[in-house]
Formats: sequence, C-alpha cells, structure tokens
Amino acid sequence: MPRKLAAGNWKMNGLRANLTEIETLAERHADSQVDILICPPAPLIASCQGTLLEIGGQDCHAAVSGAHTGDISAQMLADVGATYVIIGHSERRADHGETDAIVAAKSEAAYATGLTAVICLGETLEEREAGTTLSVIDTQLAGSVPDTAAAHNTVIAYEPVWAIGTGKVPTLDQIAEVHAHIRSRLVARFSEGAKMRILYGGSVKGSNAPDIFGVPHVDGALVGGASLKADDFSEIITALENSK
Ligand code: PGA
Repeated sequence: MPRKLAAGNWKMNGLRANLTEIETLAERHADSQVDILICPPAPLIASCQGTLLEIGGQDCHAAVSGAHTGDISAQMLADVGATYVIIGHSERRADHGETDAIVAAKSEAAYATGLTAVICLGETLEEREAGTTLSVIDTQLAGSVPDTAAAHNTVIAYEPVWAIGTGKVPTLDQIAEVHAHIRSRLVARFSEGAKMRILYGGSVKGSNAPDIFGVPHVDGALVGGASLKADDFSEIITALENSK
C-alpha cells in the first residue's frame, strides 16, 4: 500500500520568514514512515528546494503556457520543485467558479508534468442537510477525476465544505460512511482504486487527529489552519505515524 500522507495547505498565508516552520518539520520528522507535504503560497515554492518534505502547489492552470495572466502552469510548479498540486479545493470552486470539468482538466495537466494531483471534493451544509452527500460525492468523483487516475498520480481529499476552517468536524461515522463510499467508487472505476489514497480534510487538529486516523479508508489528512505552525502540524503528523 502507498504510504499515508499528511498534507498541509497554507492557503494565502505565509511569507519567507515562515519557511522556518518547514525546516523544523523536516528535522523533526526526518525518518518519518508517512509522506509529509506542504503546499505553501506559490512565491515560496522555489525557496523550499532542498527540503526533505514534499512540496506542492495549491492550484494550476489546465494549459501548459499561454495568455493567462496571473495563472501558473503545472509545469512551472514542477520546475521549481513541486511534486504535488492541490486541485479543486472548495475555495477555488467557490471563489473562482471551478467546475468538475475544469478540475479534471487541471488534474490532467498535473499528470502530464508528473505531479500528483490532490483532488478535493465535499458537500456543502445544505447538501448534507438535504441528505444528498453521497450523490454529490458521486457527481464530483465522476466529473473531477480523470480516467487516467492511478495510485501514483492521484490523491482524493474528502473535505466537507462546512467543516473547513469552522472547527466543526463530522462524526467518525459520517467520515467512515463517505470514505467507504469513495473507496467503493474508486475500486469500481480504476484498476488501482484500492491503492489510491483518500484524505480527510476540515478542522483537523492534534486533538481529533488520532480518532480520525482510526477510521477505515482514511489514509491521511489535508490540513489548513493547523499546518501553519510546525508544532501544531507535527502533532497531526505524529498521530498519523502512530496510526495503524
Ligand atoms: P482547515 O482547512 O484545516 O483550516 O479546516 C482544511 C482545508 O481547507 O484544506
């Protein structure tokens, strides 16, 4: 099985002075049995070259190059040392109108340049309350994940929108239900579906991480706020290292 993955998404936070957090994590978890990924803001990626942690972008354009002012291609991320890229985060879907088709095209661009895509999906509070969570997940999986997805190039991140940055976390049963559902869909569609990593994301902290990592088919976490400080993220990484 692929190694578990602790992924940190710094979002639009962090200046060069904050790179010491990455150095601290790399020192503390030098011999880790899990993969550790930090996705800092794009201007900091090149400065991370040489770190022992994996470094990723938070988005990429679907095209390799061209007249797309302000955008960054997957190839550019790879060129400065990124090995992963987060795609289709709910903040991008909401703030930038990214559809499932756009997310799939960006994921293909990531594959083409050798990056692993962390493809995000998850229901809103309205969808959860309407009882449509699993059908929303089905639609997003079908539309956002390319047919060429495999264990080495794709990580799925289940992030209920209502749990992101809110301190609200689904129950362990709710996480278990969605992760088992995603696993069954991946297995049905992809030859490597059993090996593709599925992360949980949304208000993960050191205090709730051990329980979340005990849920079947949770292969790691995508962490926002609690990834900004090495001490906080280290607690989560340690919980993942200690999980079965
Ligand atoms: P959070 O963010 O950990 O701050 O809730 C998670 C995410 O958006 O990936």
